Amino acid sequence: MKSSMEFSIKNGTAAKELSDCVIVGVYEAQKLSNSAQIIDAASAGLIANIVKRGDMDGKLEATLMLHNVSGIASERVLLVGLGKEADFTEKQFCKAVRASMKALTNGGASKATTFLAELAVMKLSAKRKVSLMAETVLDATYKFDAIKKKDDKAETNKGLSALAINVTDTEVSEAKAGLADGLALAAGVSLAKDLGNLPPNVCTPTYLAEQALAMGKTFGFKVEVLERDALEKLGMGSFLAVAQGSEEPPKFIIMQHLKGQKDQKPVVLVGKGITFDTGGISLKPGAEMDEMKYDMCGAASVLGTFKTIATMDLAFNVIGVIPTCENMPDGRATRPGDVLTSMSGLTIEVLNTDAEGRLILCDALTYAERFEPSAVVDIATLTGACVIALGHHATGLFSNNDHLAKELLKAGETALDRAWHMPMWDDYQPLLDSNFADIANIGGRAGGSITAACFLSRFTKKYDWAHLDIAGTAWVSGKAKGGTGRPVPLLTEFLVARANKSN
Ligand code: BES
Ligand code: MN
Ligand code: ZN
Repeated sequence: MKSSMEFSIKNGTAAKELSDCVIVGVYEAQKLSNSAQIIDAASAGLIANIVKRGDMDGKLEATLMLHNVSGIASERVLLVGLGKEADFTEKQFCKAVRASMKALTNGGASKATTFLAELAVMKLSAKRKVSLMAETVLDATYKFDAIKKKDDKAETNKGLSALAINVTDTEVSEAKAGLADGLALAAGVSLAKDLGNLPPNVCTPTYLAEQALAMGKTFGFKVEVLERDALEKLGMGSFLAVAQGSEEPPKFIIMQHLKGQKDQKPVVLVGKGITFDTGGISLKPGAEMDEMKYDMCGAASVLGTFKTIATMDLAFNVIGVIPTCENMPDGRATRPGDVLTSMSGLTIEVLNTDAEGRLILCDALTYAERFEPSAVVDIATLTGACVIALGHHATGLFSNNDHLAKELLKAGETALDRAWHMPMWDDYQPLLDSNFADIANIGGRAGGSITAACFLSRFTKKYDWAHLDIAGTAWVSGKAKGGTGRPVPLLTEFLVARANKSN
C-alpha cells in the first residue's frame, strides 16, 4: 500500500535543525561523520564521549537514540552505525538508511531530518544518493494491510510520516531530481508488491486488466484488453488451453507508452500473469501452495514498470503485454498428453500441465512480433529449478543476444537488482523433443530453468529477446512473506539507459 511518507529536500545544519529527530552517521573506529561532528561540537563532546564509552561502536546498522541533547534544537538525535569508512558502498549506505528507518518505527518522532546523504558513497552523485535513499526508505516502510480489519491495521499515527533529506546548498536542485526519480521508482515497486500480495480471489485476471485500464486513464497511455473470443481468432491455442480449466475469464492486456520518437522501435515487456497456479491436472503438492498467488509477479513487474516510466514521463517507446489467467484443475482442464496448436503454428505436447507459464508466454511472444520490437524482455516466475540454481538473490537471465544480456546485467548491477546470465546453448534443445508434436512442454528435471528458456526461444527467433526468471526473487517466504517488487528497478534502469542513449 501507499507509504504515507512525506519527503522534502533541505539545506541546513544538524545542530540547528528543528525536527523531532535528526539522523547522523558514525563510522567504526570512533570516526564521526561531518554532521555527527557538528552535533558533537554543539553538545560539548557528547557524541565522542558516547562513542568512547562503547555505547555506539559504529558497526553497520547499529543505532542509538539520544533524547534532549543540550545545545541541539531537535528533540532527538539518532546515531546510525556506518561500518568501516573504507567499506562504505551503496549496499552499506542502503543498510544504514534501512536501520535508521527501523529505529524510528513506532517511536514518538513523526518527522525527521536525515544527514546520511552527506556521506561519500563511492563516486555516487547527490542525485543518485537521494534517489536511492527515497527508494530504500519506501521499501523499508512498505506495509500491506489493505485487507486487514481496521483495528489490526498498523497504527498510522505512530512512527515516521515525514522525512527531510539534508544536502549542501549546491546539491539542492539535483537532490530534488533524485527525489523525483526515487519516488517514481518506489511507486512502481510498491504497485508490483501490492499486486503480488493481494489474495488470488481478489487479484484475478479481470482485476489485473482493470488496474491496467485505470492506469492508462490516469497517465494517458493506451491500454487494450483482449477477451477470449479475440484470442481464439488470433489462434492462441496454447494460452487458451491453460485458461480453459478456470471459471475466471482469461485476459490479454496490451499497454503502450509511446513517448519516444515516432520511428523508434519499441521495447516490449511481456509478463507472466498466472493469478493462481495449482499446477492444473498435474496438481502441485499442498505445502505452501498459497505462494502460487505470486505467479503473476512477472505481470505485476510490467505494470509496476509502466507506473514508474509513466510517472517519469520517460521519452521512450515501451509496450507491455500481459497474458493472464488461472491454472486450475477441472473437468474441462487441459490434460497431460494433450497437443495444442500455438499462435505460431508450432504444436506442443503437454506432458505436465504445471509447466503452464511457458504455454501462456509463447503466444504472447508470438503476438509481440507485430510491434517490430528493438528487443523483447519477458519476466516470469517460471521455474522452481531457477530457485535451486540461483537461490533468492539473483534473477535468472537468458537471452538469444549477448549484447542485450550484458545490458540487462549492467542495469541490474546499477539498480541493485541483480540478474545472472545462464546458458541457453543448443545442446539443451533436444530435451524438448516430442514423439507426438513439434515440441514438448517440459525437458526433464535437470537444468529445468534452462529447458524452460529453450522452450520460449522457439518462439522468439524474429527479434532480440531476453527472459528473466524471477521465481526466486519476486517474493520472500517465511515470516516476512511478501512481494519484493523485483525486477522493477532492473527494468526501469534498462529502459532509462536505452532512452538516454537514443535521445
Ligand atoms: N509457477 C511455477 C514455478 C515456481 C515454482 C515458481 C515454485 C516459484 C516457486 C511454474 O508454473 C511451475 O510450476 N513450474 C514447474 C515446471 C515443471 C513442471 C517442468 C516447476 O518448476 O516445478
Ligand atoms: Mn506451474
Ligand atoms: Zn506457474
